[in-house]
Amino acid sequence: QIPVITIDGPSGAGKGTVSRAVANILHWHYLDSGSIYRSLAIAALDAGIPLENRAEVCRIAEEMQLEFDCSAELQVKLNGINITPKLAGETTGNAASIIAAFPEVRQVLLQKQKDFQQLPGLVADGRDMGSVVFPDAEFKVYLTAGSRERALRRYKQLIEKGIDANLDQITREIEERDLRDSARATAPLTVPAGALYIDSSSLSIQEVIDRVINLVR
Ligand code: CDP
Repeated sequence: QIPVITIDGPSGAGKGTVSRAVANILHWHYLDSGSIYRSLAIAALDAGIPLENRAEVCRIAEEMQLEFDCSAELQVKLNGINITPKLAGETTGNAASIIAAFPEVRQVLLQKQKDFQQLPGLVADGRDMGSVVFPDAEFKVYLTAGSRERALRRYKQLIEKGIDANLDQITREIEERDLRDSARATAPLTVPAGALYIDSSSLSIQEVIDRVINLVR
């Protein structure tokens, strides 16, 4: 069995930074499952498909070709075209969260995510990694923080990337997204059974990384 660490939690809890660092330290692969939902959102928006049109969004999900390069900062190609600059935006994140609520869309994306489980191991970051995609994972983590703290981190990230942002608006969007991610019928955000629960509100990134590494070593 190829080892997997699942890291689930709400928007902006620091999963991406922590997962990438842990994958680097262990020399394991990294799955940023949110970027798959984000890529699909971009594909649908670019094709001019209304997000409520589930059948068409599903068709796009089946047909899209994604290439991930996780060697440094994540680079994603959608049907051969580099979409990395569009990936991080809040428009993309919100659209991703809308289509992620459709069970048929999640079903289509399931195998694409499972394919990341390769030797020597995988760090999988998302909402349902421990509950649905890798239920047999040896190591499970649930990483969260207060919504204002998460909004502040997201705000700083966007500003660093040169993307215009508004803190109050981000806080509202994070709270809306929390609600949508936890209230949906399919694969709602939950703490997987047996997961190590980490509230990172008053922890540094390094402290969180250490806790996750300790789980494995
Ligand atoms: O940046 P943020 O953490 O909000 O989002 P992300 O991890 O990039 O994922 C974008 C959206 O995709 C989330 O708001 C979720 O609704 C959805 N998602 C999901 O449903 N399941 C996953 N495994 C990953 C993301």
